[in-house]
Amino acid sequence: MRLAVIGCGYVGLVTGSCLAEAGHEVMATDNDPVRIGMLNAGRLPIYEPGLDKVMESAIAAGRLRFTSDCAQAVTPADAIFICVGTPPLESGEADLSAIDNVARQIAAASRSPKLVIEKSTVPAQTGEQLRHALHVYGRSKGATFRVASNPEFLREGTAVGDFFHPDRIVVGVEDVESEAQLREIYKPFLEGRFHCPVHEPKCPAGPAPVFLVTTIASAELIKHASNSFLGLKISYANLIADLCEKLGGNVEEVTRAVGLDPRIGPHFLNDGLGFGGFCLPKDIQAFIRLAEKNGIDFSLLKEVEAVNKRRIDQFVEKVRRALWVVKEKTVGVLGLAFKPNTDDVRFAPAIEVVRRLLAEGATVRASDPVAMERARPLLNGAAFVADPYEVAHGADALLLLTEWKEYRELDWKRIYREMARPLIVDARNMLPPAKMKELGFEYHSFGRPDLTANTVLTL
Ligand code: UGA
Repeated sequence: MRLAVIGCGYVGLVTGSCLAEAGHEVMATDNDPVRIGMLNAGRLPIYEPGLDKVMESAIAAGRLRFTSDCAQAVTPADAIFICVGTPPLESGEADLSAIDNVARQIAAASRSPKLVIEKSTVPAQTGEQLRHALHVYGRSKGATFRVASNPEFLREGTAVGDFFHPDRIVVGVEDVESEAQLREIYKPFLEGRFHCPVHEPKCPAGPAPVFLVTTIASAELIKHASNSFLGLKISYANLIADLCEKLGGNVEEVTRAVGLDPRIGPHFLNDGLGFGGFCLPKDIQAFIRLAEKNGIDFSLLKEVEAVNKRRIDQFVEKVRRALWVVKEKTVGVLGLAFKPNTDDVRFAPAIEVVRRLLAEGATVRASDPVAMERARPLLNGAAFVADPYEVAHGADALLLLTEWKEYRELDWKRIYREMARPLIVDARNMLPPAKMKELGFEYHSFGRPDLTANTVLTL
């Protein structure tokens, strides 16, 4: 099928590349000519594991092209995916101006029937507004429009695998023709007929995705409801961690046992620095505002947000307590991205932690395997060092802020020798406390017994 993808951010690029790799003809467009220039030169503007391979392969097969001219993408397309950003306004509501703008561009460039699919995360009832805008602005051009909602559940860092192996494909439609068209678009994924670069040479056997047909309003709600529930699980685990600290429990033991109940499940129960990134925090805010606008008091989610914000205060307090005086101390920071396997630092808890320490007069030396360049403009006054051992050299404390696999595998004996004071504050519970104690570290984490080299182990 001929598809247009509007918006070449991470969702648009993953969607366009994977759909092209699965056999569709995709023309992707973005209003940023620099971004399109990069893509046409074969360079990716974001770091997403596996995306380079899919994109290269789809471009080589002649099925993926990029243009900065929106009309060039829209005019020949049978179906158009809207993947533009919906960032938060001051009020917390989603800013839908990019969707509105794109609707007018689609209306102006369309001369044949189009299926217009919302993939951007939008509040319920955006579909109706979109349909209205398409009809009024496109009324004299002879085109007809059908609207659908197809929320994405891609996680940054594993988005390519998520696209090829979704647990569910949700399509919110108003007519059988749109449903059939979307089923056709996703046929390769439903039938497992694609070349997946993540699991070469063979994908593991797994259940086929559920193709879920709903109303447009339900599909829009499903996305916000899913992300909000994930945030709720994380904040719940964080409160359990607080209780464990007070009562001498171990949060890992508690959440493991809780998660073994299939009604609860083991995922998103990792306590730590809280959730960040461009999705969970903004979607929860938008959901609260949407509820408020419609007379529903979703105070449950307000509490989720409040618990999450407190994590930064609590962590900085842990650092203060451990260091006694922060001013003029050298603090090493490992991890800046909001989670591992991405260079995304938007709403990253690590960035906020570093800002606070800088404000208190610490000398901060920070590192991240891929996010340093994106973090640099946000952290005036911090030094950036690629080598983790150099970060530890002469430091009074080492903070673990993002759980990159490579940090688990560091030579901790060497780190011990490098540091002026062997103090670790682990915001992600990455390291085994008993082992760190054995190595001689003073080691603090969340929701687990604090151990120093002199503590008697009573586990
Ligand atoms: C999230 C959702 O997981 C995706 O399903 C959704 O498609 C996406 O938002 C989106 O709306 O586009 P993402 O933002 O990539 O994906 O990141 P997550 O993996 O959800 O992690 C979010 C934050 O929660 C990270 O800061 C992570 O460190 C934190 N987290 C996650 C925890 O603190 N504990 C956990 O147990 C899990």
